[in-house]
Amino acid sequence: MSGKRRVELGPAQETLLIPLYGRAALARQRNALLDDPRAVEMVDALDYDFSRFEGLSSLVGAVLRTRIHDYWAARWLAANPLGTVVELGVGLNTRFERIDNGQARWFELDLPDAMELRREFFADSDRRTSFAGSVLDDKWVDIVAASGGPWYVVAEAVLFFLPETAVRELVVRLGDLLPGAHLAFDTWGQWMADNQNDHDALGPMEARVQWFVDDPATLEGWARGLRLNESVVLPDAPREIFDLLPEPTRSSVRSMRDDPQVSSYRQNLLRFSNAPRWDRETR
Ligand SMILES: C[S@@+](CC[C@H](N)C(=O)[O-])C[C@H]1O[C@@H](n2cnc3c(N)ncnc32)[C@H](O)[C@@H]1O
Repeated sequence: MSGKRRVELGPAQETLLIPLYGRAALARQRNALLDDPRAVEMVDALDYDFSRFEGLSSLVGAVLRTRIHDYWAARWLAANPLGTVVELGVGLNTRFERIDNGQARWFELDLPDAMELRREFFADSDRRTSFAGSVLDDKWVDIVAASGGPWYVVAEAVLFFLPETAVRELVVRLGDLLPGAHLAFDTWGQWMADNQNDHDALGPMEARVQWFVDDPATLEGWARGLRLNESVVLPDAPREIFDLLPEPTRSSVRSMRDDPQVSSYRQNLLRFSNAPRWDRETR
């Protein structure tokens, strides 16, 4: 007996171990991009063969992605300190630990087996509520809506595991129930459809990307008032973050700008412009 916690997760849920390992690996290297002692603690506590992810080149990209979403969410929190952050498909992410401002309301959701694992490491509090269920369930949206806005919804490396029709229904529902909400998530272009079997981290896993979009601006047509405020590829991460990468990693990421694996992977920040009363003064 190793005394470690066994990991029994469904295929999409198992992918949460990739960014977890990435954050732990960079934290162990004392990489300035991110310090995440909780990720190190969780990797050490889990009975899982993390050696399969060791040295994968996509890990830096996964952490860069996390930091872009930290940056956007922290910027929003600075303008909306009493707002509500909703993290969908939270996995074992430590965003609350990294950017919470001591005042905001947080909701974190993941599928039941992933949430069961998460609850061994993170506790709910008066400002922090976890839900076990699917992003496609109705109940959590109603609870989040009833808690009052403004809302910032982030789904990092989650939505593309769902079919497009399901993502679209979710986005429309969020626009109806969370007026004025910001929505941050990543998208893979068609390139990934033809190449995911060769992706260094995802390829050997069972989960498959199901939703592909080459131009995230087309999502504006999904719901009235939905606007794409920002959309960046990883080498275009905000300078404050990107410059934390040590050389030669920085140059290496920059030089991959035209590599389709990099150019077809976008981080997107959308907003419903059907802003309610409390949100009209803020961006
Ligand atoms: C690649 S992991 C990302 C985890 C986390 N967002 C992070 O960045 O560390 C994908 C996550 O999406 C979750 N997920 C996949 N389908 C989901 C669904 N229908 N409802 C809720 N979560 C889902 C998985 O359980 C997993 O935690």
